[in-house]
Amino acid sequence: MGKKVKKESETPCKETFEPLPFEGKTPATVVLLLSSPEEDILVKACEAIHLFAEKGDENKACLLGLGALEPLCQLITHINKLVRRNAFMALGSMANNGDVRIALKKIDVIPSIIDKLSLEEDIVVHEFATLCLASLSVDFVCKVQIFDNKGLPPLIQLLSSPDPDVRKNSLEIIFNLVQDHQSRLAVHELGGIPPLLELLKSDFPVIQHLALRTLQNVTIDKDTCNTFREEQGFEKLMDILKNMEFRDLHAEALQVVANCVSDSESLQLIHKVGGLTRLMEFVLTPNTPEIQSKAVKCIARVAESSENRKLLHEQSVEKVLVELLSVADISVKTATCQAMSVMSFHLASKDSFRDLGGIPAVVRLLSNDSLVLREAATQALSNLTNSNQLNAFAVYNAEGHEILVQQLYGTCPRTVGNSAATLGNMAGQEVIRCSVLSHGAIQALVELLKSTDTEVLVNTTLCLAVLACESEARAELLSASGLQPLVNLLHTYQKEVLQNACWAINVCATDVPVAVEICKFGALELLQQINQSVNRKSSFSRLAMISLLNSNLSVKYSLTGNLASTDLISDGFYDAGKVPAGQRILTLEELSKQPVNEQRPIIVVNTATEETVDAPEGRHSNPSETDTSSKRDRRTPRKKKEDDKQKDETQPESHTEKPWKMMEDVSLQVLLKEAKESIFSLSDEREQCAALAGLVSEAMGGAVEMEKLHEFPWLLHLSELKFLLQSNVVPIGLINRGIYCHRALLFKCLADCIGMSCTLVRGEYNRAWNEVLLFDGNPSRNERSSKPCRYIVDLMHQPGSLLTDSSPAAVQYQTI
Ligand SMILES: *[C@@H]1O[C@H](CO)[C@@H](O)[C@H](O)[C@H]1NC(C)=O
Ligand SMILES: *[C@@H]1O[C@H](CO)[C@@H](O)[C@H](O)[C@H]1NC(C)=O
Ligand SMILES: *[C@@H]1O[C@H](CO)[C@@H](O)[C@H](O)[C@H]1NC(C)=O
Ligand SMILES: *[C@@H]1O[C@H](CO)[C@@H](O)[C@H](O)[C@H]1NC(C)=O
Ligand SMILES: *[C@@H]1O[C@H](CO)[C@@H](O)[C@H](O)[C@H]1NC(C)=O
Ligand SMILES: *[C@@H]1O[C@H](CO)[C@@H](O)[C@H](O)[C@H]1NC(C)=O
Repeated sequence: MGKKVKKESETPCKETFEPLPFEGKTPATVVLLLSSPEEDILVKACEAIHLFAEKGDENKACLLGLGALEPLCQLITHINKLVRRNAFMALGSMANNGDVRIALKKIDVIPSIIDKLSLEEDIVVHEFATLCLASLSVDFVCKVQIFDNKGLPPLIQLLSSPDPDVRKNSLEIIFNLVQDHQSRLAVHELGGIPPLLELLKSDFPVIQHLALRTLQNVTIDKDTCNTFREEQGFEKLMDILKNMEFRDLHAEALQVVANCVSDSESLQLIHKVGGLTRLMEFVLTPNTPEIQSKAVKCIARVAESSENRKLLHEQSVEKVLVELLSVADISVKTATCQAMSVMSFHLASKDSFRDLGGIPAVVRLLSNDSLVLREAATQALSNLTNSNQLNAFAVYNAEGHEILVQQLYGTCPRTVGNSAATLGNMAGQEVIRCSVLSHGAIQALVELLKSTDTEVLVNTTLCLAVLACESEARAELLSASGLQPLVNLLHTYQKEVLQNACWAINVCATDVPVAVEICKFGALELLQQINQSVNRKSSFSRLAMISLLNSNLSVKYSLTGNLASTDLISDGFYDAGKVPAGQRILTLEELSKQPVNEQRPIIVVNTATEETVDAPEGRHSNPSETDTSSKRDRRTPRKKKEDDKQKDETQPESHTEKPWKMMEDVSLQVLLKEAKESIFSLSDEREQCAALAGLVSEAMGGAVEMEKLHEFPWLLHLSELKFLLQSNVVPIGLINRGIYCHRALLFKCLADCIGMSCTLVRGEYNRAWNEVLLFDGNPSRNERSSKPCRYIVDLMHQPGSLLTDSSPAAVQYQTI
């Protein structure tokens, strides 16, 4: 054993018999004698084997080879006390040999050993029985056997044995057992905590250490902690912690404290016995790094409860922690960053850390080689900057954002995630945002969008969404091919990632070219799938969809059947009818190239004249792109056209393979001119509305009586047009027999061009209508009521009349 000093007198049996008769006998003979019927011989044979085994490991192996184990295992249950005792001594001294242990496992000796742990047995039996079990209990199967054979109750009892060897062996077995959950709970339930605490006072350091380590394991359990507290566990640990003679025990004692202090009740208790102050002293006095970092971890555990954080804040724990950031040891710094993270839940602490200069100190740690330290430092920064703009600026002033962008290229997912989270927190501020961008954040984030780590993705997408409110960021995202991976994230089933990706898409869609690109990667189809899923759809996915649709009104009208007065349609807009959710909407070019069919025509809007058509259309094969640019410059159309012409002149004609082109619509140009002329001379909104309605009705075949609607030859007319054009795509100006849906579209188109405000709503069965908001009262006398009213514009039956929204007349107009 030799683990501790033990008086030789404790080895018994010397005087009870003479070992002499065995002198000269070979071990083999002695092993044979273990089967003797004479108790005298048995006593002596066991004794001789014990002495022989004590001499070394080879002897133990030799005895094993000679078959000593089987008879010894029998003899430990012998009726004669002396035989039992000596057999245990022999077995016990053999048991710490690895091969013996393996052999013993097969013999199923554990129940008999446990049986002999009862208090009636001799102390020597206790000593060697526990020695046997201590050897065996390193093995998992044996541990289970000890537990199942109810070994714990007698072992706990033996923790209070008068013999230190028995105490030590029993403790060792219990320590081995509590590595498993069921034993951990059982030790508490069987009243093991008080004797364990008692052993802290042992004169033998080895026992103190083992007791602390066992307590360390069992106090993982909450109930055990409560009992620990009730049994004055903290006071006993504090006695150790205050005693510098026990310095070797401090790290382990602190770990037990850490296990038990996370609830506020415990903290109050240690606070009362001066524990908190002691803890702070511990942390600050130069100490071994191990003890210092354990003490800081203790503080971090304490800080897990909000009441405790308040108490720690009152004790100025922040000052202690900031000072620790300059301790040389990495593990201390790391633990300190972790404690700062937890303390950041306390809002006032975040400010204290800043005021004490803690933030530049943490930023400095970002440059250290230690991965663990960097992870802890980025975590602390992400917590410190969470909802705290002054801290964000403190990181910025320490140039932390630069290093954080570099961290995004790191290999540790937690560090990367924390860095992205911190940058996201900071980027709420415009100055910081621009600086973060100037250090190449987008490029790094684009790579991270391809990560498979959920936490990384959550924080990357969030950071991206915040940065993307700068147009520079969106442009960079586009040029760095970041949109495809962003759109790909719409496949995810991770709720938070999906939401953040949707938000980022929503922000990015403010730029039409970016939105167009996002749509190219199938974002709309994916968002529609998401819209169909109860679990996946959210306000974020709705928002993303709306933003994308707002950049593509043709698709919006097709999918939602609704254009708001702010949705201004322009050249290239087409009405492809109602498209079922999930189905891809074909481009105008694709639709134009389809053979003429029986279905409703695609109606297209194009007010551009041939020369202006030539300019942008020649360069962009996609008509929708001109659509969008003219939409943005709507207020100054004339100037734009000149600009375009200039551009065109400076750029030599490069129409090598002249691409597909929208058909010119001269009739629409004429209508638009007429609309401008007639409407601009009117000042009253109602009159303007009526005039435009008249114009539209006139162009599409005039008023049609409700009863005679079925006689109106619009269907035939459209078929003729399709045949004439040899296309399913019909320019709206060519339609001169049109009903609700055609007229409403024309009205919307002209109204948008001349700056009148109206909606376009699709109903069932080719119905569609425009809603306008008009003020009541006599406008010439400026007696407008404060609230405008909603009207449906009649374009069919009494063109120009305004039908009050939801009135019977309006409902009749909207439905069949
Ligand atoms: C028990 O405590 C020891 C330290 O004394 C530790 O190494 C071990 O991991 C702990 N076991 C469990 C299961 O927590
Ligand atoms: C990292 O921290 C350790 C411990 O404080 C220090 O010795 C080392 O110089 C630091 N390394 C760098 C690159 O700052
Ligand atoms: C600190 O960050 C971690 C992980 O990012 C998070 O779980 C925790 O809620 C944060 N705490 C505070 C105070 O922000
Ligand atoms: C990322 O952010 C989420 C929520 O904001 C947080 O819970 C998580 O811990 C963060 N992950 C990392 C690696 O920082
Ligand atoms: C989203 O789903 C709802 C209900 O399923 C549907 O009414 C709505 O039209 C969908 N939105 C789009 C834009 O597809
Ligand atoms: C609108 O969507 C259609 C159909 O997907 C597409 O062809 C067109 O390019 C898009 N236009 C814009 C401006 O996004």
